[in-house]
Amino acid sequence: MARKPLTEPLKDADALAHSSVVANSAMNRERRLVGTNSYSKDLGLDLVAMLTSAASRDGEIAWLDLCCGAGRALVDAARLLDANPATKGRVSITGVDLVASFDGPRDAVDGLQILEANLERWEPDSAFDLVTCVHGLHYVGDKLGLIRRAVSWLRPGGVFLASLDLANVRLEGGSSAARVVGAVFRASGLQWNPRTRILRADGPRTLDTRMEFLGADDAAGPNYTGQPAVNSHYRRR
Ligand SMILES: C[S@@+](CC[C@H](N)C(=O)[O-])C[C@H]1O[C@@H](n2cnc3c(N)ncnc32)[C@H](O)[C@@H]1O
Repeated sequence: MARKPLTEPLKDADALAHSSVVANSAMNRERRLVGTNSYSKDLGLDLVAMLTSAASRDGEIAWLDLCCGAGRALVDAARLLDANPATKGRVSITGVDLVASFDGPRDAVDGLQILEANLERWEPDSAFDLVTCVHGLHYVGDKLGLIRRAVSWLRPGGVFLASLDLANVRLEGGSSAARVVGAVFRASGLQWNPRTRILRADGPRTLDTRMEFLGADDAAGPNYTGQPAVNSHYRRR
């Protein structure tokens, strides 16, 4: 992708939260659990089977969804798992989003909670078997910081899955950080698939990025999704 000159100063987390790119009402916040517009399709994974077998096998399991949007996939999952005697009462699902766009009653389904918070700062008080972030990192300022924290929130055997366009990670001055960041991911045991742009970690990981977050550019333009996204700029330490 060609380097685009910066026309505005980089934004910090608070300024970014008020950006029209991040608070864009045309954004797709409505993905379901399965189907054409779904988490399972975008993550390339049968999430129902994954959650069902984990809950039937291990008992209590916990799923955290970062940038959950309207939370439809979470409601779908909570309902399905609640209706199955093998998984009923065994799954807790937490969704977190900056914008309260949750369009159902938050306490309608057992085991589901939706929180309104800025993930640039939010920290959970427990660990998770599954952490997902479906098309959310595109709008986060410190993407590497959130990835570093999120992979540390996994329980042993847990899985982290997130959509990430490495073209949205830039070095100081604007050049691509893709090669550097790809190497950092590999060294820490994270796998980034350049075809699907899915980042995966198995089990808790310690990610030492050796990169200092400088700020975010919300005028970066569309990424591979076709939607305007946010570039995150870093200085190598
Ligand atoms: C494209 S939507 C995806 C929503 C949902 N994952 C889905 O696929 O339906 C991206 C979401 O990221 C949220 N988001 C962006 N920056 C965030 C931040 N710093 N903290 C929490 N949520 C954020 C937005 O509010 C939006 O709901």
